[in-house]
Amino acid sequence: MTDQTASTSTSAQSASCKLTIAIDGPAGSGKSSVAQRVAQILGYLYLDSGAMYRALALKALQDNGLVLSSHAELEALAAGTHIELKPTPLDLVAEGVKNQVFLDGFDVTQAIRTPEVAQAASQVATIAKVRELLVREQQKAGAGGGVVMEGRDIGTVVFPNAELKIFLEASPETRAKRRWKEHEEKGEHLTLAQVLDEVRERDKRDSERKVSPLVRAKDGILVDNTAMGIEETARLIVMLAREREKELAKVGGREA
Ligand code: CDP
Ligand code: CDP
Repeated sequence: MTDQTASTSTSAQSASCKLTIAIDGPAGSGKSSVAQRVAQILGYLYLDSGAMYRALALKALQDNGLVLSSHAELEALAAGTHIELKPTPLDLVAEGVKNQVFLDGFDVTQAIRTPEVAQAASQVATIAKVRELLVREQQKAGAGGGVVMEGRDIGTVVFPNAELKIFLEASPETRAKRRWKEHEEKGEHLTLAQVLDEVRERDKRDSERKVSPLVRAKDGILVDNTAMGIEETARLIVMLAREREKELAKVGGREA
């Protein structure tokens, strides 16, 4: 149902040891910004798995209102939906666009970035069959290594053998403030309390769901970036990746 244009990773990576890097964490912890920067520095492909859940949720909302849909309808919707993630052209990276997202051929890159879609995404993400379909596509897209994929279950379910797993955290207040600022910049005036409620509600649903809940993988490295900027966090992860690359080079290749 979905596919990604798993393109070109240019440059700097060590040709012999391309890692699979999984970055998981709650909303607003900085996954997208940090993962994209890490991928840029290493010359890896960046993939935002959450964009796929958001795109499907947008379709469900547009079709008939998510609340009216049964699980069976949402599963059928997922099976008949084509979602494509494309690496962002450099000029759009500067504007903060992460992956470009196409839903059945239409560009929904901006349309999926609303609080309504975020909440709906975390609802469709509770359905096991929907997850199976999306996870399969995520695995295909990252199969060659040299990829930084971020989401909620990348280190636990999508790539349990990833060579580097990061669990990115920040305090709920900091995460809400970050998200609030983004809304302000788009001219959307919400109160900080509203955004904090939204973030907490989604964290709860994501952490407590039965299928693939948001949990730190047992071999995941906790990085709390409450008091760190994007660049500093990305540099730390790149340092960990370089160490891992060296370790793997010593033992003669990838483990996954
Ligand atoms: O993908 P996720 O929801 O985890 O977070 P994000 O979209 O990468 O980051 C949310 C907002 O926080 C963005 O506007 C980032 O620029 C900002 N951010 C930050 O100010 N400092 C960090 N260390 C990480 C993210
Ligand atoms: O950027 P932010 O952290 O706010 O959310 P996102 O990564 O765009 O993901 C939106 C929703 O999709 C999350 O709240 C999760 O419910 C779901 N999701 C998931 O279940 N598994 C993933 N690998 C990625 C996202």
